[in-house]
Amino acid sequence: MQLLDGKLVSAKIKEDIKQEAAAFLASTGRRPHLVAILVGNDGASETYVASKMRNCELVGFESTNIHYETHITEAELIAKIKELNADAGVDGLIVQLPLPAHIDPDRITEAIDYRKDVDGFHPVNLGRMQRNLPCFIPATPYGILLMLDHYGIDTTGMHAVVVGRSNIVGSPMSILLARNEKPGNCTVTLTHSRTKNIKEEVQRADIVVAAIGKKHFITADMVKEGAVVIDVGINREVSSETKSGYKLYGDVDFEHVAPKSSWITPVPGGVGLMTIIGLLKNTLEAAKGSVY
Ligand code: GUN
Repeated sequence: MQLLDGKLVSAKIKEDIKQEAAAFLASTGRRPHLVAILVGNDGASETYVASKMRNCELVGFESTNIHYETHITEAELIAKIKELNADAGVDGLIVQLPLPAHIDPDRITEAIDYRKDVDGFHPVNLGRMQRNLPCFIPATPYGILLMLDHYGIDTTGMHAVVVGRSNIVGSPMSILLARNEKPGNCTVTLTHSRTKNIKEEVQRADIVVAAIGKKHFITADMVKEGAVVIDVGINREVSSETKSGYKLYGDVDFEHVAPKSSWITPVPGGVGLMTIIGLLKNTLEAAKGSVY
């Protein structure tokens, strides 16, 4: 078993991004700028946005966090998005999900200018991704591809089983792994909560991407000997053992799955750190105008 080390890979790529940001500043006199909108007081979302902002600062980007109370209306939020769309000083714009129930996430996603949609959630980016055209790729799948690429894992011809069909991870990941690209060229099975015999499906996988949001859902008996295992799960449980007061668990029972796998990501220290890298790379590309 070999570890796919998100700490090591993210640190290395972050250094490259930092240098590119410095070169961008030298040639344009400004820094790449990411704006993140957060609505409400979801603890996990607050942590994620704070981490995004902190990482922007670390690589020399400008970052702005706009925080609204839960009761902001959809119309007010869309008006703000339009203002930021029109602001030439903003390169990337994200709205942290989930949103309160009275706000339609699809309407919000479509209100963001696709040229600033560094989350890669806008239907234009999704469509262009499927067609293998220049686009913003959602941060977590992008980070996973960068990780596979870093370790030189050739997925060509592999049977990939993606567990979970979310707009943020599972669905785009299934598209990316099927593309005629490296990494990619997989035969893809996309499984979800309504899949029959999920265990048998996962057992066929040469590469498993677990993005279902259930602690230790993938157990050793579900994994083929020698499989590549990518764990996207960030399941938070209250714990007195850690400084933050929370302990993180993956969707994979790492302890028992790791000995069977060829490569595996730990939680924490795996995919989560790569998600930030995907977002930073998209923001840099947005600033440089290299996608649109
Ligand atoms: N919620 C969970 N993951 C993400 C993400 O990558 N982007 C946004 N905007 N919200 C999220």
